[in-house]
Amino acid sequence: MADFRKSTIYQIYTKSFMDASGDGFGDIKGVTARLDYLAWLGVDYVWLTPFFCSPQRDNGYDVSDYRKVDPIFGTMEDVEELIAEGKKRGIGLMFDMVFNHTSTDHVWFQKALEGDPYYMDYYIFRDGRGSLPPTNWESKFGGNAWKYVPKLDKWYLHLYDEGQADLNWDNPKVREELKDIVRFWKQKGAEGFRFDVVNLVSKPEVFQDDTHGDGRRFYTDGPHIHEYLRELAEDTGICDMITVGEMSSTSLEACIGYTKPERRELSMCFHFHHLKVDYKDGDKWELMEPDRRKLKELFAAWQEGMEKGGGWEAVFWCNHDQPRAVSRFGDDGKYWKESAKMLAGAIHFMRGTPYVYQGEEIGMTNAGYDAIGQFRDVESLNYYEILLGRGKSQEEALKVIQERSRDNGRTPMQWDASGNAGFTEGEPWIRIPDNHQTINVEEERKDEDSILYFYRRLIALRKQYPVIAQGDIHFFLREDEHVLAYCREDDQALLTVVCNLTGKDCTVEDCEALHVEGAALLAGNYPGQEETIAIQKLRPYEFAAYWRQK
Ligand code: NOJ
Repeated sequence: MADFRKSTIYQIYTKSFMDASGDGFGDIKGVTARLDYLAWLGVDYVWLTPFFCSPQRDNGYDVSDYRKVDPIFGTMEDVEELIAEGKKRGIGLMFDMVFNHTSTDHVWFQKALEGDPYYMDYYIFRDGRGSLPPTNWESKFGGNAWKYVPKLDKWYLHLYDEGQADLNWDNPKVREELKDIVRFWKQKGAEGFRFDVVNLVSKPEVFQDDTHGDGRRFYTDGPHIHEYLRELAEDTGICDMITVGEMSSTSLEACIGYTKPERRELSMCFHFHHLKVDYKDGDKWELMEPDRRKLKELFAAWQEGMEKGGGWEAVFWCNHDQPRAVSRFGDDGKYWKESAKMLAGAIHFMRGTPYVYQGEEIGMTNAGYDAIGQFRDVESLNYYEILLGRGKSQEEALKVIQERSRDNGRTPMQWDASGNAGFTEGEPWIRIPDNHQTINVEEERKDEDSILYFYRRLIALRKQYPVIAQGDIHFFLREDEHVLAYCREDDQALLTVVCNLTGKDCTVEDCEALHVEGAALLAGNYPGQEETIAIQKLRPYEFAAYWRQK
């Protein structure tokens, strides 16, 4: 198994990657058909989003049977074939374990609904307060987080959609069931796991109203979380495999605890603080230009803090829950290529394991939908209504959804310029952006200066230069509003990275770290950077990384 520090992980959103059956949904056979592409790109692992049986209210994050493959994605034989074909190419498969909640269609929940006390204790059922829910907590998808079941005269907790009922991890039988699922997929040949919103699983003993928040402070990084994660890892023998936990609204301190190797909990974790710098007053549904100074502060605090504490991060801009980075932090018009490369370079040389989300490597942009009917995501559709309820006009509400919808990251992979972008021969489940005619894999494979080739080079460099995987990190030019700059250093070498985060020329204040004479350009996004090593003036979105032996 490849060392996770030297590895690059590619995330596939199964529904939108490649449709081999022609029904308009991406599927497992489609992924297998594209493994040669992923091997060419050089990735070590593929994280595949859930393909298990599900009513698909939240695109598979509502699992109704963890051991069965949903027919829209294929069969168990298809998964076995994918694992075997991946192995042949040196690509390990990581599966997505959605263990904070199950679908309400899951047999455990169905039995709970019949009033079976054994299964009611698998979930979180509570009495209401008269006609009011047990607490005022809010669901992450909008509305109250409790749903009333008249037959039982009780409410169940759903931190996400009402079709996703939260599991009761304090019940040891639930934890045993979940371990068995991990063992099942491990035995099938999975080489790693991603755990969905796993820092939310340990709920408080007492459920009470949150007088100044939506409830998250009571269940985020909850009371037994470290104990439960360690138990899960040790009892399933996954401590030596690659594992990543998705952490919602977490803290640096908690993440150090989750990922310090001696704690035997997880290899690394995702956190999202840097992806909230364009939320006005912390509200995802209020638009704001990214606060670049804040972005820099967060990178520095987390990167240096994780190093100091001995933890390990997943580094990333994009996933299936996020708008496309090039549209959000770069420029998907005039400086499309430069800004996409700069964003890639900015994180691929950081300390942590980089994740490439399907399509990011070719600079895929936001969806560009112009009507609410084109959106599919339950969260976007809920919030469109909520925004109208808050008094926004249809036009204003649509503008917010256009910017913030998770569907921006869920449009089908753009393989070529043909009608359906080479994704399907059927009717795609979600609209394909018009720009697939110019932004697609086929085009970029013909051009060695493309974004795609740039990603391929970054992935290769991590393997060639130990300082990228192992070096210490130190940020400089901390006060500069435009330039993100850091050094990586080990016994042998020094790597200096500078990025102009803006679309304007800028002058950089002289400082010692910028004196990189005698260094070689490892990667850059403008011609002629080999000769102009001074880094005193940066062009729009300019990025350069210089390496020298010590
Ligand atoms: C995080 C997943 O990435 C997201 O897509 C999903 O909606 C929630 N967890 C709930 O499972």
